[in-house]
Amino acid sequence: MQKILITGGAGFIGSNFVRHMLNEYKSYRLIVLDALTYAGNLENLADVWQHPNFIFYKGNIGDPDCVANVVQNVDAIVNFAAETHVDRSIHGAGNFVQTDVYGTFTLLEAAKKYKIERYLQISTDEVYGSILEGAFQETDPLRPSSPYSASKASGDMLVHSYYVTYDLPVLITRSSNNYGPYQYPEKLIPLFITNALENKPLPLYGDGQNVRDWIYVEDNCKAVDYVLHHGTIGEVYNIGGGNERTNIYITKKILQLLDKPESLITPVKDRPGHDRRYAVDCSKIQALGWKPQVDFEEGIAKTVHWYQDHPQWWMALKAKKADFQAFYRKNYESS
Ligand code: NAD
Ligand code: DAU
Repeated sequence: MQKILITGGAGFIGSNFVRHMLNEYKSYRLIVLDALTYAGNLENLADVWQHPNFIFYKGNIGDPDCVANVVQNVDAIVNFAAETHVDRSIHGAGNFVQTDVYGTFTLLEAAKKYKIERYLQISTDEVYGSILEGAFQETDPLRPSSPYSASKASGDMLVHSYYVTYDLPVLITRSSNNYGPYQYPEKLIPLFITNALENKPLPLYGDGQNVRDWIYVEDNCKAVDYVLHHGTIGEVYNIGGGNERTNIYITKKILQLLDKPESLITPVKDRPGHDRRYAVDCSKIQALGWKPQVDFEEGIAKTVHWYQDHPQWWMALKAKKADFQAFYRKNYESS
C-alpha cells in the first residue's frame, strides 16, 4: 500500500490525517480528492501543499468519471468526504444523501472496478443513536436520529454490502466527537471558542445536559491509521476518547480558559431530535494496540490556544455570509 486516496482531505479530520500520514510514512503518496464545499478549505493543507508526496484534486465523490480517474491510480481509499453538520441536515437533507450515500456508492463502485487493496469508510458513533446508560458495541443495531446520521448509516450499510457481495476489502471506523485545530467554526467547541473570543453569545441548546464523548483529533487520526494497517477486513471499529462531558461543562470550561463571563451563555431552543448521549465501547480497537493519549483537559487547552493563535483562519470563515451567517440567522432567529 503506497498510494492512498484521502477523500475530504481539505476538511477538519481529513487535513489532520494527511499531516499525520505524511509524518508517519515517508514513502507513501497521499492523493486528496475534495469538492471544497463550505467546509473544505485549502488553508487547512497549506503546510503540506509543497510536500513531494502530496497531491490535491478538486472533485466530487459523487462524480463517477472524476472518481474513476483518481481511483485507478491508487492502492487504498480512506473516505472522510461527507456533509457533517447535524443542524444543516435538519434544514435540508439533500446534500447529505447525495454525498454520504450516493458519493459512498460511487467510491465503492470504483474501488470494486479497480480492485482496491483497502477501502476504509470513516463513519460516526451517531449511527447507533442515543444511549442513556452503557456503551454501544460494533454489533449493535443502527438507529440513527438525524438525516445526517441516517445518511452515514446508509453509507455504512452499502460498504458492508460490498464486502459481503463482492468481497471488497472494506473497513469502517465509528468515532465519537472530535475536537482540535482546523474544525469549522459551526461545531460546538470551535463555535463557542470563537464566539467567546468575539464576546458574542454562546447558543446552548436545551438544558445543556446532553453528553458527548470527546476525542482529540490526533488520537482519532492515529486510530484510523491503526485500523487501515492492522484492522481485520470486513470489520467495524468504534473509536472513543473516553471523555464524556455535558455541553454545559464544555461551555463553562471554554469561558474559564478564556477568562470570559458566564453571562455569554445563551439558552436557545433545542435541536429537533437531539440525541441525549453518545457512548461507544472501544475494547475492539484497544485490542489492536490503540488507545487515546490526549487527556481532555490538556486537549481543550491546546485547542483554545490554537483558535486564539489563528484568528485570521476562523474570522475569514465566519465572515463568508453565504456559508456561515445565513445559516446561523436561519437557525437562531426563531429561537
Ligand atoms: P468536515 O465537514 O470538516 O469536512 C468534510 C470535507 O469533505 C470537506 O473538506 C468537504 O469539502 C469535503 N466534501 C464534502 N462533500 C464532498 C463531496 N461530495 N465530494 C468531495 N468532497 C466533499 O468534516 P469532518 O468533521 O472532518 O468529518 C470527516 C469525516 O469524519 C466525515 O465522514 C464525518 O462523518 C466523520 N466524523 C466526524 C466526526 C467529528 O466529530 N467531526 C466524528 C465522527 C465521524
Ligand atoms: O458524534 C460524532 C459526531 O459529532 C459527528 O459525526 C458529526 O459530524 C459532528 O458534527 C458531531 O455531531 P454533534 O451533533 O454531536 O456535534 P455538534 O458540535 O453539532 O454538537 C455537539 C453538542 O453541542 C450537541 O449536543 C449539540 C450541542 N450544541 C451544538 C451547537 C453547534 C449546542 O448546544 N449549541 C450549538 O450551537
